[in-house]
Amino acid sequence: MSENLKSKAELEKPVTLEIEGKKFQYPTLKGTEDEKGFDISALRAQTGYITMDNGYANTSSCQSSITFLDGELGILRYRGIPIEQLAEKSNFIEVSYLLIYGHLPTQSELSQFKADITRHTLVNEDLAHLLSGFPRDAHPMAILSAATCALSTYYQDSLNPADPEQVKQNITRLMAKLPTLAAFAYKTSIGQPKIQPKNDLDYCSNFLRMMFAVPSEEYHVPKEVADALNLLLILHADHEQNCSTSTVRLVGSSAANIYASITGGICALWGPLHGGANQAVMEMLEEIHKDGGDVNKYVGLAKDKNSTFKLMGFGHRVYKNFDPRASIIKKACDQVLNKLGVNNPLLEIAKKLEEAALKDSYFIEKKLYPNVDFYSGIIYSALNIPVNMFTVMFAMGRLPGWIAHWKEMTENTSTKIGRPRQIYTGPTKTDYTPISQRRGK
Ligand code: SDX
Repeated sequence: MSENLKSKAELEKPVTLEIEGKKFQYPTLKGTEDEKGFDISALRAQTGYITMDNGYANTSSCQSSITFLDGELGILRYRGIPIEQLAEKSNFIEVSYLLIYGHLPTQSELSQFKADITRHTLVNEDLAHLLSGFPRDAHPMAILSAATCALSTYYQDSLNPADPEQVKQNITRLMAKLPTLAAFAYKTSIGQPKIQPKNDLDYCSNFLRMMFAVPSEEYHVPKEVADALNLLLILHADHEQNCSTSTVRLVGSSAANIYASITGGICALWGPLHGGANQAVMEMLEEIHKDGGDVNKYVGLAKDKNSTFKLMGFGHRVYKNFDPRASIIKKACDQVLNKLGVNNPLLEIAKKLEEAALKDSYFIEKKLYPNVDFYSGIIYSALNIPVNMFTVMFAMGRLPGWIAHWKEMTENTSTKIGRPRQIYTGPTKTDYTPISQRRGK
């Protein structure tokens, strides 16, 4: 069991708040990257006040040692290792182990982790049949979330979050079966037979074969295609307390099982302001392309308060400078499309859009830069992955991050159930009115 994280942050000089003429002191915590926060756990009991922080933009929900990011400097590190080094030197399974178990695996640890995953990629046939009950045009994220939660019904004897062996088993099952379920969701949506995993393939090749092989014809996964997917999954693997990861933690804080918690994360990721943005970016670029490619018109729309149009793939709650992942993906776009001999006009539109926006005072003042979702869809398209599967790809990448945070939260003995307060603005005390005395239609 990992030690209680409370001991990780240093205690610094307390802060003093003056409320209604009285002074109150609160301990200051300093993280290993000098991030500081003051602990207000006693605030309401001592002062009767609570805090208000729309979208939790200034509020930490936990202490965590998994991922560090610095939005001003464009820094992203998994367990201290810079994303640029992992993108260049590692692979998704090794990065998953690093995030989940806290260190780069030895050769034997990595071989065992890979072998465990390989031997659990099959999905119960009854669950596979369940997917066939969805309408053809069901969004794959709806299928993936339903199937992930349904997975728990096949392992009812090993769902105890407090049992390390059962947790390890379920981590292996989720890492192994999510790609199979994702590919099955795709095959279901196009009315093709599901393709079973093959144990002699690596993680990314296995998924791509399940996506594109058909019973009547084998599909040999080109190495550059598998490598491109491997890079994208690494870049999406974790991002500290983002919306979907915070959702996984909140669901897990009630001692819900790991499948239920991960399902919550999948649902939160689906939103177009979060992981759904990669699909929304491609739809936006398509629209601009069809409309003649006038990027300045759309930059103008994004600035127009009377327009609901947002430049999807731009802006970020934390990155107020460049998103290091976007820089890596942008570079990879040219490399992958050249290697695959793919010419996608949307890439040129994306580059022109970025150039126009980054010269515009609105985007400069509001510190809006391309985020991870802005270019990723260009590569997914080059791999022949359909647009409605883009957010499923994001979920596959983010799975180890969700698991790592759920595990860290579950093992932390000081974890409490998440239950925020509110500032109530509804009606004050009102008596019941019998229906005969109610006015209106
Ligand atoms: C991800 O948190 C994470 O780490 C997420 C993620 C991860 O790896 O988990 O990085 C993945 O979700 C990336 C973000 C993907 N979403 C999008 O690309 C959708 C478009 N972006 C926005 O909706 C927005 O930028 C958010 C949701 C990403 C961030 O929103 P915030 O931090 O709440 O900021 P905001 O919406 O309050 O915007 C600040 C200002 C506003 O203007 P004002 O009200 O101050 O006048 O900037 C404007 C916004 O209107 N603005 C945009 C804009 N994004 C923000 N204007 C035009 N186009 C945009 N894309």
